[in-house]
This record gives sequence, structure tokens and C-alpha cells, in this order.
Amino acid sequence: MCGIVGIVGKLNACKSALNILKNLEYRGYDSAGLAYLQKNHLNTIKALGKLNKLKSKFEVLEEDIKDISIAIGHTRWATHGKVLLENTHPILSENIAVVHNGIIENHDEIRLELKEKNVVFETSTDTEVIPHLLSISMKNTNNFFNACVSVVEKIEGAYAFAAIHSLKEEIFVARKTSPLVIGLGDGYNIVGSDAQSISHMVNEVIYLNDGDYAILNKTNFQIYDLNNNEVKREKINIKSNLNFLNKDGYKHFMEKEIHEQPNVLINTIGSLVREENDLNIFPEKMNIQKNFGITICAAGTSHYAAMVGKYWIEKFSSIPVNVELSSEYRYRRPATAMYSCMIVISQSGESIDTLMAMREAKRLNLTTTAITNVENSSIDREADYSIFTHVGPEVGVASTKSFTSQLIVLLSIAMKIGIYNKKITSEKYQSFIQNLKLVPNFLSKILSLNEEFINLAQSIKNSQNILYLGRGILYPLALEGALKLKELSYIHSEGFAAGEMKHGPIALIEEGLPIIMFLTSDGIEEKSISNLQEALARGGEVFLISDQKNINKISFIENKVLIPSFHDTWNDVFSPIFMSIPAQLIAYHVARERGTDVDQPRNLAKSVTVE
Ligand code: M6R
Repeated sequence: MCGIVGIVGKLNACKSALNILKNLEYRGYDSAGLAYLQKNHLNTIKALGKLNKLKSKFEVLEEDIKDISIAIGHTRWATHGKVLLENTHPILSENIAVVHNGIIENHDEIRLELKEKNVVFETSTDTEVIPHLLSISMKNTNNFFNACVSVVEKIEGAYAFAAIHSLKEEIFVARKTSPLVIGLGDGYNIVGSDAQSISHMVNEVIYLNDGDYAILNKTNFQIYDLNNNEVKREKINIKSNLNFLNKDGYKHFMEKEIHEQPNVLINTIGSLVREENDLNIFPEKMNIQKNFGITICAAGTSHYAAMVGKYWIEKFSSIPVNVELSSEYRYRRPATAMYSCMIVISQSGESIDTLMAMREAKRLNLTTTAITNVENSSIDREADYSIFTHVGPEVGVASTKSFTSQLIVLLSIAMKIGIYNKKITSEKYQSFIQNLKLVPNFLSKILSLNEEFINLAQSIKNSQNILYLGRGILYPLALEGALKLKELSYIHSEGFAAGEMKHGPIALIEEGLPIIMFLTSDGIEEKSISNLQEALARGGEVFLISDQKNINKISFIENKVLIPSFHDTWNDVFSPIFMSIPAQLIAYHVARERGTDVDQPRNLAKSVTVE
């Protein structure tokens, strides 16, 4: 989603803003721009497409604008209005420039009002109402700060914006739901959409709370809460660390993030397993109650993690679990009498659908637990209790290491509730913890089969449609495999529960249709194999990913990749974590073969902060 930056008090501000926008690229965007103040005039540089286009335009002007010490910048992920230069931020009105993330929900109404005052609109964005409102208000008040506050009081929606004007070097910022961070530099101040993007320039940051607004100049800043009271917010020390922007010799961030899973999952597991061989998870804080269920809300890949979590939690703790898409939960009227708590899962901690579902849960008096990768993200800050995945920044838009880490946290939650509710023995609990520690090393063995997945990718790269099948706990993996493939390669792919094929989807099978199935030895493998036979009989080209234990049962399948089997008791339990690697590698290699933009697929954003 859109990224925002603002700098005041630092020479060559446009260059610094460009560098920060580079760090925000991962959020996804389709155009970018800068506005700066030169001799009491606001100028802009804008470009469609990737940041190197904006950089080229900036470089032509660089000599002339080196002395500039105030700038705002933006990467735009189009929502209202096409990807056109005129819709690219910053958006100007007379002597005001604005960059904005999120949506102004009452923009239509405001547009009408402004048109009646003869304001001429030049873009199709919802954003444009902000600079126009500011210009009008400035004429009335002649005070930039007061004008901005009056705009904050008028606009509705989930947004963050930054505004500058041509008379004085100061930046106004406001946030409602969308994230915004202030960075405190030596003689300058910065705002950015996240702390990491500005961490190379500042040691201290301040996260604005929901509803906060602030005014910054080069040496000072004041923050106000939604009741217009001036407030002090905590300053947080951050390390200057941009290693996450290094591909470590891999061609894509996604490739790096797939291959670093054995290393980073050690951090996830390390944070979960306490020295005395207990799990650092607190059912009391989650408000787990014997006779009440848990709702899990999430979006996209995190939602598929939730679906796997349901299998585990119900199996090991007997607590009923209801899994919902965040975007659906928030707009229906959920009956919560049978639930004591909600778990939300969000890599970024910023997905607005999930944040809003969590707020709805709070409103309904459910205790909320967040599983997230980003400390101090909006979801972390608002949850009653957070469990972090600790896998470091994920730059590729496709969720990879965050998915496997979410699975590890969910399985650990299931086991912890199991022992807490006396549904599993302490031997089983200890055995789980011992085996969990072996997972990172085991994933390295699966990753070493990379070549086999490259071959598989080459066989299917030209297909127009691909089906994924899985049964039981691997059904959500079929959904995840299909999502990964479609978002990266743009091939139409769908995941199905293998047992459901005969109820409809089997009609799709025709000669040569690739069908990828995930299979483990879970006691229902014979049923899954029958479903495969049905697909083969109708001309489907089956590619089977199975663990070695099934080797004798699947000799009739020509195209298969056998992954090693894990320790007996835990093989099928851990199988969704293991099968994630093939799902990721297949999608990655197909996309690479097809030459698509692996790290920033078209139309997608890393952090989805609009509804
Ligand atoms: O940051 P979140 O986990 O809340 O993001 C949820 C989805 O937007 C995300 O998983 C998305 O589906 C990924 N692109 C999948 O690879």
C-alpha cells in the first residue's frame, strides 16, 4: 500500500526522501512523487512505475535542489483514480502539498461541497479534497496548523497524511488507523510509514497513536490526541539496521526469504521455548476458557495459517475454533456468546481488515491475541496480548517465512492450551517441544530438493490453469499453494479439498490439466490417493508432493517429489510446515521461469491498509 515520507531540516531533503521511499517499496506501489519547497514555491517531481523513474527525474534537478531542506514523498498504490501522473501524490492546491495513505470515505460529499465553492478538481483521487480544504481553511485562518486540524475534524475514513505549505518549513501529519512514525534526527525530523524505512537516519522514533496528529519543524514537534490535547508519546530507540534490504546473493527477496527459513525459524522457536522446556505462551492472557471457543481472524496467507491452526487447536486442546476472513467478520453480526477470545494473525500487523476485525472483537468484549511479525505495529499495539514470530522483515510481497512462523506459533498455542486444559500428557508436551527444535534443520533437507521443484516448475510454467489438492490438515496448504502461484505467476490456480473434487470441481479436469497434490501419512492417505486416481482417470497430469513414508503406495504416480519423513509421531502433525516449502518453491520457480516481478507482483501490496 502507499508509503509516506516527510523530512524537515535536512539538506538535500529530496534525496533523503527518495532513499526512504526505496525502503517503503516493499509495500507495493505503481507511481511515486516528491514535493519540495524552494524559494517559497512548492514544486513536484512525479513518475509512473518504479522508483528508478522518479530517481532519473530527480537526478536531472539534483544540483539545483541540493539546498532544499523540506520535502514530502509518496509511493502510490492506486485506489481512487487510475495510475496517471495527475493522480500521483503529492497532490497540490495553491500553496499546499499533501501525501496520503488510506481512504477518505466522505470524499464524494466534500467534493460536492467544494465544487459549489468553485473549486476545480484536477485528479480522480479521494486525496485531492485534503489540499483544497486546507487552502480554503488557510484563507480563513491564516494559520497552517489550525487549518490542518479543521481538516482532520472534517475527513472520515482510515488514513495517514502529511502536508506542507509554502510559507514556513513545517510538516503536519495525522493518522487514523493507517500507520505513521516520527523519527527524531540531529537537527532534523522525519515522518515515515514505518520505523524501518527511516531507521538509517534516526536513532529514536515515536509511533503516533490512532487518531493522533502532529506538527514538526526541524527542531521541535508537538503531538495531539484525538481529543485535541497535547500529549507526550514514548520515544523508542531503534537500531540503525537495513540489512533486510540485502538480497544476500539471491536473485529475489522472496528467494532469500524462502531459503533463510531454517535460520529465522530458530528465532521463532527460541522465543517460544523457555529454558525449562515450557512454551512461552500464556492461555490466561489469551483468556482461554474451558467451555468457550476461539475465533481466529486473518487475511490471505495468514488466513490459511489460521485454517491449519483450527485443525491443531481442536485436535490437541478440544477447544472449538471458528476461523474467519477478517474482511467478512467486521461487517457481519457475529454471535459471540460461545467465544471468550479472538486470535488475529497478521505478518505486517497493519492489514486494515484484520485490525478492524480485532476492534470489533474488542467491542464485543472478546480478549484479543495478535500473532504478528512486527512489534509496535497497529495490531500489536491494540491487542491485549501479542506473540511475535520474530522472522525479521519480509520484503517480498508473497508471504513465505511469515507463514511457516505463524504455523509454528499456532501449533505451539495448540500444545500449550492442550497441556493447560489437561488434554495432552506432559510426555506428549515435552516430546513436542523436543521435536519442534528439530524443525529448522529438517526444513534445510526439504530446501535441498530445490532442483526437483525447478523441474516441476518447468513442466507447468506454460499452463493456463492449475489445481492444487490436499486433504485434512493439508487442505489449507492446497489453498495456500494456489494463492502463492496465482499471485506470483498470474496463472489461474485453485485449491480444493481432495474429497470435494467429486462434488463439482472434477468437471474442470481435462487432458493435461496439471494437478498438484500434497500428501502426508496421516491415516487418510489412502482416501487422498483414491482422489488422485480419479483425477488421473480423467486425463489430469498429476504432480504429487509426498513424504517418503508413502513411497510404496504411490509407485503408480510418475511425477512426484518425495520429501523426507520426520519422526513418526510428529510427521503428519508438522506436515503443513514441511509442505509450505514445496508450495513456495513451486510458485517462486514458475514465476521466475515466466519472468514476472517476483518481489512486487502486479496489483499487490505488502501491507494492505485499505479495505
Ligand atoms: O500482513 P498480513 O499477514 O495481515 O497480510 C495478509 C495478506 O494480505 C497476505 O498474507 C497476502 O495474502 C500475501 N500476499 C500472500 O502471499
